[in-house]
Amino acid sequence: MFAVHLMAFYFSKLKEDQIKKVDRFLYHMRLSDDTLLDIMRRFRAEMEKGLAKDTNPTAAVKMLPTFVRAIPDGSENGEFLSLDLGGSKFRVLKVQVAEEGKRHVQMESQFYPTPNEIIRGNGTELFEYVADCLADFMKTKDLKHKKLPLGLTFSFPCRQTKLEEGVLLSWTKKFKARGVQDTDVVSRLTKAMRRHKDMDVDILALVNDTVGTMMTCAYDDPYCEVGVIIGTGTNACYMEDMSNIDLVEGDEGRMCINTEWGAFGDDGALEDIRTEFDRELDLGSLNPGKQLFEKMISGLYLGELVRLILLKMAKAGLLFGGEKSSALHTKGKIETRHVAAMEKYKEGLANTREILVDLGLEPSEADCIAVQHVCTIVSFRSANLCAAALAAILTCLRENKKVERLRTTVGMDGTLYKIHPQYPKRLHKVVRKLVPSCDVRFLLSESGSTKGAAMVTAVASRVQAQRKQIDRVLALFQLTREQLVDVQAKMRAELEYGLKKKSHGLATVRMLPTYVCGLPDGTEKGKFLALDLGGTNFRVLLVKIRSGRRSVRMYNKIFAIPLEIMQGTGEELFDHIVQCIADFLDYMGLKGASLPLGFTFSFPCRQMSIDKGTLIGWTKGFKATDCEGEDVVDMLREAIKRRNEFDLDIVAVVNDTVGTMMTCGYEDPNCEIGLIAGTGSNMCYMEDMRNIEMLEGDEGKMCINTEWGGFGDNGCIDDIRTRYDTEVDEGSLNPGKQRYEKMTSGMYLGEIVRQILIDLTKQGLLFRGQISERLRTRGIFETKFLSQIESDRLALLQVRRILQQLGLDSTCEDSIVVKEVCGAVSRRAAQLCGAGLAAIVEKRREDQGLEHLRITVGVDGTLYKLHPHFSRILQETVKELAPRCDVTFMLSEDGSGKGAALITAVAKRLQQAQEN
Ligand code: BG6
Ligand code: BG6
Ligand code: GLC
Ligand code: GLC
Repeated sequence: MFAVHLMAFYFSKLKEDQIKKVDRFLYHMRLSDDTLLDIMRRFRAEMEKGLAKDTNPTAAVKMLPTFVRAIPDGSENGEFLSLDLGGSKFRVLKVQVAEEGKRHVQMESQFYPTPNEIIRGNGTELFEYVADCLADFMKTKDLKHKKLPLGLTFSFPCRQTKLEEGVLLSWTKKFKARGVQDTDVVSRLTKAMRRHKDMDVDILALVNDTVGTMMTCAYDDPYCEVGVIIGTGTNACYMEDMSNIDLVEGDEGRMCINTEWGAFGDDGALEDIRTEFDRELDLGSLNPGKQLFEKMISGLYLGELVRLILLKMAKAGLLFGGEKSSALHTKGKIETRHVAAMEKYKEGLANTREILVDLGLEPSEADCIAVQHVCTIVSFRSANLCAAALAAILTCLRENKKVERLRTTVGMDGTLYKIHPQYPKRLHKVVRKLVPSCDVRFLLSESGSTKGAAMVTAVASRVQAQRKQIDRVLALFQLTREQLVDVQAKMRAELEYGLKKKSHGLATVRMLPTYVCGLPDGTEKGKFLALDLGGTNFRVLLVKIRSGRRSVRMYNKIFAIPLEIMQGTGEELFDHIVQCIADFLDYMGLKGASLPLGFTFSFPCRQMSIDKGTLIGWTKGFKATDCEGEDVVDMLREAIKRRNEFDLDIVAVVNDTVGTMMTCGYEDPNCEIGLIAGTGSNMCYMEDMRNIEMLEGDEGKMCINTEWGGFGDNGCIDDIRTRYDTEVDEGSLNPGKQRYEKMTSGMYLGEIVRQILIDLTKQGLLFRGQISERLRTRGIFETKFLSQIESDRLALLQVRRILQQLGLDSTCEDSIVVKEVCGAVSRRAAQLCGAGLAAIVEKRREDQGLEHLRITVGVDGTLYKLHPHFSRILQETVKELAPRCDVTFMLSEDGSGKGAALITAVAKRLQQAQEN
């Protein structure tokens, strides 16, 4: 009995001595709680450095955006291929997610070896090898005939700009294949796969193993928002708020960040805690100076650290009686599995002896105890360091969520964590000590990271399918050059048709004579009133023209025309106009004055003289009754009479295109075309009298108001009209009419956009599939909103804000799509308008028998003025389709009121001359 006690005493004394000895020797490796808290703070600072745009380039911890935006929600499904490359084992898998509506995952897998000559050889050969393994797998599983999406788990630091792309920043761990760094591994593998003609595989997602692990665990536990690997290497990822991620646009929701914490300390931040053993190990590694945190923690290095320590202790005579074996001198002879075995609870000491003997050593009992304790210190330090970094991540999550206590789950994987007997317990304990305000569940990923990678791929494949649907819709708006040339030719034909005597009455492009026969010559003078009705704003103006100096002074006032008046009776409309004139005269102190008046009336009118215009039909947003077929000048005169307050001399009625041409023609005598790209779309130009068959006389020119908005009303451009155009047309005030205008002008572009958005939403591709009341509301996308949305200077967030203002609650992805839709619609509008204009300039060139035509187009309209791209695309199209015309675009700064006044001045002069 006594002997037993003595033995026990002797043993515990021996143990105590050995432990003390080792503790003293490895004093530096034992980290106090304060040090751990300090490391935690330092890591937190590193995270912020990596997330911020300015500091990311120099940050050691790269905090890489992964483009994984949500954890699985159970709706994922499909059949996928998966590769898992970069951990201790390389696997190829087939994953079946959610069969028959069940939340269930089935996997079949096959391991393949990764010999050093492959993973440290030529990069191209590495990818070819991987592709060969995949081909082999597909053959054995009889999958070659199938087209399957693939998720690639690639456990190295990659800079991603999208899910299906990743540029390798550097190899880590055991890999060092040449010529891969700085290249996109997805395209490298895709290229390698192309060698197998019978393989049809699309790589849809590239994920880090931490991300795969997090997603795997999140499939079972929705609280999981962190993934940690403690295996060959070590690393962690977590869900970060988008608003904290500078490197990716948008601030809505979250995105998974691959921290690449293994590189913590690469900038010297951990020098105070690194030991001589860490330095020595680093020098002998494949990547000296890199992954310094990882080298203190992960499986690839732990055994080697122990070996270096034992060697040093032996050299100092503290172990093995100072004896060393050649194995102990050999790099890599002690592996992590040995460390784990030596630390086993019961068999640990026996294992230690066996391992040391295998290393050619003759350990004493004391040696075994000491060696075991060395292992404990090394692996404990590893767990401590991981815990500190993880605690920083958890703190960040808690702060992001602004909660007192955080309930969360961490998905775990990696051989060190899995096979080491004490490791998980120690790690969990320290984490809980460091962040007492977090209730953390650690969940081991049973099925590796592939299940998670398949989830990501499933989402990606859904997104890809949706993208294809969206592209299909947008493609309807992309016109080929041939189509534009065809539009140009058809427009040309319609212009000619409208000028011919026998077809004029039937023409859809009406080609209305305006009785404006010349541009201003600078001799015009006097004081005039002008009305400008039919664009975005209704204006009354006073225009003072001084002859000689070509100077014009204008005073104007904008008046609203309420919808009920626009669409009420004709009498109400004209009474309202006269009321506005009265207000204006009052306002200008001109009460009772009788001035000559020019009336810009931006609707199609058949004119028999300059001061008579019969409204053919309302366009745009007007629909007042009893006006069509009536002379609008008469209607205005009668309204003035009804009011019986003042008298006005209505001298001219002018279309806005004509007013615009005249306004610009006052500055540039070469301006012989007027173009409006605004609420409506129209063009006028100076035509030779001899070509205007329906009028007498062959001398000189007259301005023709083409009313090209009606182009296509005979069905001639139905081949390029989409179902959305039809929809817009049917919902308009004038169904079947103004088809070209409805594809090209401000009043309708927003409506086309709205119809597309409704359709995409119905297809579940936008606004979470919910069609809101706002989206159902006609006219919400005014030209100014389209213009804002398409502005290049606008970040996505601002686009989202505009949509929010419009009452559309969109995500950032929605905003991208909305912007694309707007772009497609406005681009087509500008191109169509350009094709129309090309038709007219070419006609003018040919009519005059010119090799080259130089001509100026006076332009007005909110679409042309406000839209960021419309004018450029329009001009490019004209250049492309009418290469022999040198067209100058001149923006009308003063509106068409000025031109109307100039026309009035000329008409007045002629009138007076006639009277005399
Ligand atoms: C596996 C995962 O379970 O763990 C891999 O499927 C991961 O993606 C690996 O890389 C990490 O552990 P180790 O020890 O194999 O590097
Ligand atoms: C204005 C002109 O500048 O532009 C109007 O003065 C014209 O006569 C208008 O109708 C066209 O643009 P919008 O966008 O207002 O229809
Ligand atoms: C290395 C890699 C990292 C990976 C980790 C675990 O640190 O750089 O991407 O996640 O090992 O495998
Ligand atoms: C509509 C009108 C036309 C006008 C154009 C631009 O197309 O019918 O007369 O010029 O809009 O405002």
